[in-house]
Amino acid sequence: MAPTRARGSLLMDRYAVIGNPVAHSKSPQIHAAFALATGEALVYERLLAPLDDFPGTLAAFRRQGGLGANVTLPFKLEAYAAASEHSARAVQAGAVNTLVWREDHWFGDNTDGVGLTRDLRQNLGCRVADQRVLVLGAGGAARGILGPLLAVHPRMLVISNRTVKKADELAALFAEDGPVVSETARNLAGQSFDLVINATSSSVGEDTHPLPWPAGLFAPGAFAYDLMYASEPTRFLNWADQQGATRRADGLGMLVEQAAESFLLWRGVRPETRAVLDGLRG
Ligand code: ATR
Repeated sequence: MAPTRARGSLLMDRYAVIGNPVAHSKSPQIHAAFALATGEALVYERLLAPLDDFPGTLAAFRRQGGLGANVTLPFKLEAYAAASEHSARAVQAGAVNTLVWREDHWFGDNTDGVGLTRDLRQNLGCRVADQRVLVLGAGGAARGILGPLLAVHPRMLVISNRTVKKADELAALFAEDGPVVSETARNLAGQSFDLVINATSSSVGEDTHPLPWPAGLFAPGAFAYDLMYASEPTRFLNWADQQGATRRADGLGMLVEQAAESFLLWRGVRPETRAVLDGLRG
């Protein structure tokens, strides 16, 4: 896809990550590495939007020539509203994490889910096809990954959430896309899975509520994946470790892969991710 460039401008093409907070974001570092490796001339900055003025921040960025943005918490729904054209996967996710300026409007896409499946399959060698997959949580993060997960054909995908009604709603929403059901935490007792994905926000902040799921969810050789990443193993990954899950990963690889997918949308070139991911882990 050809990027739209500011004609006659001596300035480099501008991109940004917009969030609140945003100071911690690794996206500028990741996109700078992609730009260097691919020889693309661009600048990528952090923009802190006031909680009550995402549209104003986006409009000001566009006036300054902004061509594309990543959008992080808590603005993914507002980014959806700001876009007047959406990809099918953004519609499925109900949220936008990537905006692309197209001639006279914002195109909204969502690269989170495909970032996860690429990380699982390409980077981690974790098979999804024909496997039993459990997704914990039924908020925005869970919704964003369900379509791309079902697209790689798990044998079954179970959604389980503390608030049961939200899991039921998500399972119903994706029923036509593959074998997806919801299950209460209690009813999961005695069941085991090949891949357990934490899509709850329980790994962030000071949350100390015990996770409501029973022991024994990890089949022998199962993979535990947390969409969150942190310098220390997350609460979910420690829990998985205690339960004998030997293969574990946090969401840093997903972050890098979703960024690569955004870069592809903006610049028409897919950057290599391995060296960038190794650099961040180092
Ligand atoms: P996000 O956009 O990160 O998905 P969200 O839409 O607020 O954020 O959803 C947070 C998810 O984490 C929800 O599924 C929430 O469960 P509830 O729907 O029952 O609130 C889940 N969650 C947060 N803290 C949790 C905890 N301590 N144990 C279990 N689930 C938790």
